Amino acid sequence: MLAKHLVLVFAAGLAAAVEPLVDLKYTKLQGTALANGATQWLGVRYAAPPVGALRFAAPIDPPATAPGTVEDATKFQPICLPRSASDFTMKPNKRFTVAEDCLYVNIFAPSNATAAGDNKLGVLYFIQGGGFQSNSNANFNGSDLAVFGNILVVQVNYRVGPFGGRGGGSLNNGLKDMIQGLKWVKQNIAAFGGDPDQVVAAGDSAGATGVAMLLAAFAEKDPGLFKGAIMESPSVATVRTLAQGQEQYDCLANATGCLGTSDSLACLRGLNASALQTEQCQFNPHLDGDLVKTPLLASFQAGAFLKVPTIAGTCSDEGTKNVPQDTDDVAAARRFVNDQAFGALSNASLDVVERVYLDAPQPVFAGAGRLWRQVANAHGDFRAHCIAARLQDGQAAAGVRTYNYRYAVRDPEQEALGFGAYHTVELNGVFGPDNTDGAPPKSYRTTNAAIVPITMAYWAGFVRTLDPNAARVAGTPEWKPWTAEGRERLRFETGAMGMENMNDTQKANCDMLDPMLPAIETPTDKPGSVELKQN
Ligand SMILES: *[C@@H]1O[C@H](CO)[C@@H](O)[C@H](O)[C@H]1NC(C)=O
Ligand SMILES: *[C@@H]1O[C@H](CO)[C@@H](O)[C@H](O)[C@H]1NC(C)=O
Ligand SMILES: *[C@@H]1O[C@H](CO)[C@@H](O)[C@H](O)[C@H]1NC(C)=O
Ligand SMILES: *[C@@H]1O[C@H](CO)[C@@H](O)[C@H](O)[C@H]1NC(C)=O
Ligand SMILES: *[C@@H]1O[C@H](CO)[C@@H](O)[C@H](O)[C@H]1NC(C)=O
Ligand SMILES: *[C@@H]1O[C@H](CO)[C@@H](O)[C@H](O)[C@H]1NC(C)=O
Repeated sequence: MLAKHLVLVFAAGLAAAVEPLVDLKYTKLQGTALANGATQWLGVRYAAPPVGALRFAAPIDPPATAPGTVEDATKFQPICLPRSASDFTMKPNKRFTVAEDCLYVNIFAPSNATAAGDNKLGVLYFIQGGGFQSNSNANFNGSDLAVFGNILVVQVNYRVGPFGGRGGGSLNNGLKDMIQGLKWVKQNIAAFGGDPDQVVAAGDSAGATGVAMLLAAFAEKDPGLFKGAIMESPSVATVRTLAQGQEQYDCLANATGCLGTSDSLACLRGLNASALQTEQCQFNPHLDGDLVKTPLLASFQAGAFLKVPTIAGTCSDEGTKNVPQDTDDVAAARRFVNDQAFGALSNASLDVVERVYLDAPQPVFAGAGRLWRQVANAHGDFRAHCIAARLQDGQAAAGVRTYNYRYAVRDPEQEALGFGAYHTVELNGVFGPDNTDGAPPKSYRTTNAAIVPITMAYWAGFVRTLDPNAARVAGTPEWKPWTAEGRERLRFETGAMGMENMNDTQKANCDMLDPMLPAIETPTDKPGSVELKQN
């Protein structure tokens, strides 16, 4: 009698674990419970298909399905069609296919998460990178991170290239997709065991830049979509004014034969999606007076951003995969650097860049140009390290808690090739090397395997409590917040984890580069007008 009573009390007190079949009221989804303790729902529509009349339009909610319908959420759906047909995501790949109909999230939850009661779990909403031209870090497997961290992991596809930038119609649809996904999460994530009030918006590369742009977009009014942010290798997007952006639209219209037709937008909407792919045009976010009112750096300098705790950081060798490896002579190096700033640097400024970076001895690697690593170091500073520092200076000045990291995990093979700890390599630590794109540095499975739980624990602690120290692995250092004076950052290196400070040399280089950064963000009308000074 007593035993039976206890069982009943237990049954009433313990909320049932989430079932793979989830009822969202407007539809039902069949996911999969995995042997590793996670349940996954793949290819879940978070917006109506952005095709036909909705091509170039802002995202809208997905339609309800007919009563009784159970949608298959056991397989990935396509990722978004990239700008160019030569993009690597177009090549045959067992992880993904591409299509215009691509607005899907993938959801990973611990199988013992509960959809009822008070034990809802924090949610990591992950926005992948790809330079706003492609979905480059697609279909990662978030199940290990979800189980290890006792959090939900949601990965989002968003429109890129002409579909996400300025094809015509609504502007900044890629950013709007990121927001639509967050709204969908707010509305629906409780049914998967997630806490709609404990969401952290995270991203890498262009995804991190997107997160920073959302922080700026919500400066005046917090829509309550996320409580914290993680920016892995943020940079600045090139944001153009409407007038400057007309060039992008005309480029697309010209490339597709729609320029000069009586209604070029209707013409663009009428084309097969693949006919909109182009090698010759670039598409980026725009200053639209609404979502993107000011360039990012100016917003952060002015304290105009959503005041939530953040993590931001970079990999030691951010530039190695982003500059031409064959850079061999000074003229080519100077040209490359100035192209990054749309020609804004004067020759005297390029002389400064030459003295500071190109004249600094660096190792030469087999098959690479003699100035590859020098240009990579410059690029790493002006496109990543210094930008993260400036975003965090703004946050620290506003009294917002922000934590910086430098990902310095040394893989013997990548070190020998000269790539070092390259742009976005930390994703292998965050998700685990078997869960990313299939080509992780090999040591993440052997001598660097210990870095994976260490990284996951800081990330998960932040998602759960907004403090990365909340669940850190025993023996790892306390992560102290960034200050403009101390420039504190956590170094991720196997066997050598520790707090350090951005050193005086790099600080001086960032100070020197400061006048260049706005010219990367908004193309100048005055070539040669930016003066850099060595202190
Ligand atoms: C789910 O399992 C993990 C690992 O065993 C545990 O830490 C967590 O408390 C469990 N959650 C629930 C809701 O039972
Ligand atoms: C993620 O990994 C688990 C464990 O290996 C596997 O069962 C599951 O199918 C994977 N999910 C995806 C989406 O690859
Ligand atoms: C239109 O495209 C052609 C090549 O496809 C190019 O030569 C021409 O300069 C372009 N014109 C404009 C106005 O962009
Ligand atoms: C239309 O586009 C799809 C994919 O976007 C492609 O598979 C198909 O071959 C295209 N058809 C034509 C006629 O170009
Ligand atoms: C800057 O240097 C380039 C290359 O040496 C040269 O062609 C150009 O005329 C110089 N510009 C000025 C304003 O001196
Ligand atoms: C300063 O930091 C940069 C970037 O981490 C590094 O490349 C450089 O070697 C450091 N310089 C000194 C003097 O420690």
